[in-house]
Amino acid sequence: MLATATGIAQSLIPTPVSMKACPGDFEAAKPLIRSASFDNPEAYTLTISSAGIVIEAPSKAAEAHALATLAQLRNEDRYPCMRIDDRPRFPWRGLLLDVSRHFMPVDSVKATLERMASVKMNVLHWHLADDQGVRVESKRFPLLQARASGGQFYTQGQIKELIAYAQDRGIRVVPEFDFPGHATAWFAAYPELASAPGPYEIERKIGIFDPAFDPSNPKTYEFIEEFLTEMAAMFPDSHVHLGGDEVNGKHWDANPRIQAFKKAQRLGSNHDLQVYFEDRMHAITRKLGKTLVLWDEAIHPKSARDIVYQAWRGPNALLASAFLKHQTLVAYGFYLDWGLSTDQLYRNQLNGVLPDETDPILKRLKPLIKIPAARPAGMMTDVEFANRLGGEAALWSEFTTPANLDTHLWPRLAVVAERLWSPPEKSQDLDDLYRRLNTIYPQPPSKPFEDLLEPGKYVYRHLSKKYTVDSPMDQLVDRLPSESLRAQEFNRLAVKKHFKQVREWLERWNAQQATGLLLEADARLAIKIGLETLDRIEGKAAAPGPGWKLGKIAVLKALGDNHREIVIAICPGVISLVNAFPN
Ligand code: ACM
Repeated sequence: MLATATGIAQSLIPTPVSMKACPGDFEAAKPLIRSASFDNPEAYTLTISSAGIVIEAPSKAAEAHALATLAQLRNEDRYPCMRIDDRPRFPWRGLLLDVSRHFMPVDSVKATLERMASVKMNVLHWHLADDQGVRVESKRFPLLQARASGGQFYTQGQIKELIAYAQDRGIRVVPEFDFPGHATAWFAAYPELASAPGPYEIERKIGIFDPAFDPSNPKTYEFIEEFLTEMAAMFPDSHVHLGGDEVNGKHWDANPRIQAFKKAQRLGSNHDLQVYFEDRMHAITRKLGKTLVLWDEAIHPKSARDIVYQAWRGPNALLASAFLKHQTLVAYGFYLDWGLSTDQLYRNQLNGVLPDETDPILKRLKPLIKIPAARPAGMMTDVEFANRLGGEAALWSEFTTPANLDTHLWPRLAVVAERLWSPPEKSQDLDDLYRRLNTIYPQPPSKPFEDLLEPGKYVYRHLSKKYTVDSPMDQLVDRLPSESLRAQEFNRLAVKKHFKQVREWLERWNAQQATGLLLEADARLAIKIGLETLDRIEGKAAAPGPGWKLGKIAVLKALGDNHREIVIAICPGVISLVNAFPN
């Protein structure tokens, strides 16, 4: 574990560990691990002294966390003397990894687990099925791997191997099989379970699609129960996620048999029909001894209290779920594929907000539940707070392949990990956060101008309709890190008016040789405006006339927009320089 977390080969880690930073004359030893009982199963103590390194931990997971901390403390071959009493803020600190849109081979999953352990994340939420593929081998339903996977799936042996690999690192594996929507691939194998006649092929496009399981067909429930029974024997975790997001109901509306079923069951809306379906999912999972996790679309006041909801559409979903006394996971604000910055991820406070009557989630729930409006702005009650189980970063893989998985996950996943582990009041200092990110995951040298660029923000590329999961993800935008730590450092310096350092950065970038990069001219324009503005600020050029400021800001905003799917990432910083002028 030390070897992988530090990037140093096992054989190079000195044993016994040398602790020259500790005062005194001593023989250092390998960490001594003692079992101990704490009230939190993931708590540990780590003591580094001239007597050696001692870890006290109540579980294998806690041992793994202590070793991860030790690896972070290592400086060359020295460890500072200290004692750490540590425990997580939340028991569920996950990463959703989508392996349906793009399949991730076993080695990529292993490497991700390894790095998750290095920041003490403890749940891999494995999104194993979606419109674009079902990625597990089933002995009971072999047509799944034959027709629903495109040949890319994990064998049962590989799944067991990965679960054991995760367990060794203190990580649980929670599988997600997304029902009843996001289901096209299943029907390429078993079309008789669908709400519309088909025929079906694995989806290659990106988006939200109409196919959904037929909730009026008893075979749907027989199939899902048999399938989950097989999976339950393989996945030992107490929880299973069965999706429930983004069911558009179009194929339900178009099917007279489903309409008649709705009427007979007195289900007024498609949402009621989905809640009926989820009740059946709950019965199946209970029979298997598993706790059911669902996306927030399935929230309903009459649902079984032991369902865990995952809030992805915003803080109101968290509030509604927690108010209804469900354990709740937060995913909103932690979507890694939306291009959210370190700053944005870090500021996600996992708090509900004052009920917003126009919010679609609350609008639907309002006739059913009465969430008292009288509460301080932005606050939940203590009871609601206590229902937060934790959270998950999500990496949906429409544009993520094994080749760029690492740059889409890291280092920003470490930010989410800290938000979920550390007390909120301990982690407000953004400069310190970036400093630490740079030490844990130093950015490799980039080609000239590339560190001024970032991929466009939010789901701009998804909506462009230009891509399918077969598109080669081999453009510049595909290899850029989700955030340029250098550009972000520049922006922070500019906001703080550290003009000397700002000028040094701009001049260094300006002196770079021509690259022929498509966006080089745009990057050079932003640099030029920055230097010109500094000249004016420092009195080396005339003060600007009227209209200058608005004109420059308009140019910079365009350069900083989702331009050709790439943004010039220093624009916010340069805009803050331009804003130094009053007009
Ligand atoms: C989701 O992002 N559709 C859960």
